[in-house]
Amino acid sequence: MIEILNVNKSFKNTDVLTDVNLTIQDNEVFGLVGPSGVGKSTLLNCLIGLEKYQSGSICIDGVRLEELNELKIRKFRKNMGMIFQNFSLIGRKDIFHNISLPMECWNYSKTDIKNRVEELAELIGIQDKLKNRPSELSGGQKQRVAIARALTMNPRYLLCDECTSSLDPKSTSSILELLKSLQEQFQITIIVVTHEMAVVQNLCNKMAILESGKVSLSGDVQEIFKEKPEQLRTLLGEDERMVSITLDVAELAKVKEYLDTQGTNYKITGGY
Ligand SMILES: Nc1ncnc2c1ncn2[C@@H]1O[C@H](COP(=O)(O)OP(=O)(O)OP(=O)(O)O)[C@@H](O)[C@H]1O
Ligand SMILES: [Mg+2]
Repeated sequence: MIEILNVNKSFKNTDVLTDVNLTIQDNEVFGLVGPSGVGKSTLLNCLIGLEKYQSGSICIDGVRLEELNELKIRKFRKNMGMIFQNFSLIGRKDIFHNISLPMECWNYSKTDIKNRVEELAELIGIQDKLKNRPSELSGGQKQRVAIARALTMNPRYLLCDECTSSLDPKSTSSILELLKSLQEQFQITIIVVTHEMAVVQNLCNKMAILESGKVSLSGDVQEIFKEKPEQLRTLLGEDERMVSITLDVAELAKVKEYLDTQGTNYKITGGY
């Protein structure tokens, strides 16, 4: 379980996260959404100990990250598989060595590495690409490699930063299917940062919206999409709909009366 308690994070003079509070339970597929620049990637980086925060606490499975030294953070990071916003594969290494990287850093034996990479490549469906370079793969295949690499250390958590945003709809849905099946097979808790609401709706069971450095809404995905609160409508771009009609004064009064009975927020602009 991940508990984020009153976390504040700023870069020099820029406040990015202000009093962020969130709880992510085991086995959830948690969607984190919000406008560009709001601090989603920064929050993920705090969760894996790549960024320090000025105050507050992040508690993962009972361990407070701010209390760990560098070595302990490195060890702790084995629990956290991360897929970065830009694939971050190494161009001069083949796919095998891109996947094996974390195991090499931890000095696993050659046999263990070979077995694990081959097992993962088969699971993810890239077994015929192990000798290729990243530049020879499609976007969807690169993303599979990034997922395989994130899974090498058997993490309890998988953090995906915009892992489908550069993919076409078909590759997106195959990556979503893959993530769903990984979650079901290995009971990994998945956190997905995305600006694609369809991804949240298809993949996640819980979600939070970040707005102006704060969590403006969090809860159950089904319920939030059913109730469509203002925070969600804003993200969906449905917050303002303009209708242009010509009415006489009596008709206008009737329309206003109707809108008021519906509890609709509206603004009347225009002239006579
Ligand atoms: N290393 C850094 N140094 C200084 N400012 C940073 C750094 N990293 C991020 N920022 C700033 O922090 C804010 C949040 O950035 P972040 O990348 O977390 O946003 P995001 O929500 O992931 O956006 P996007 O949806 O575009 O990926 C931005 O204003 C960004 O300029
Ligand atoms: Mg980002």
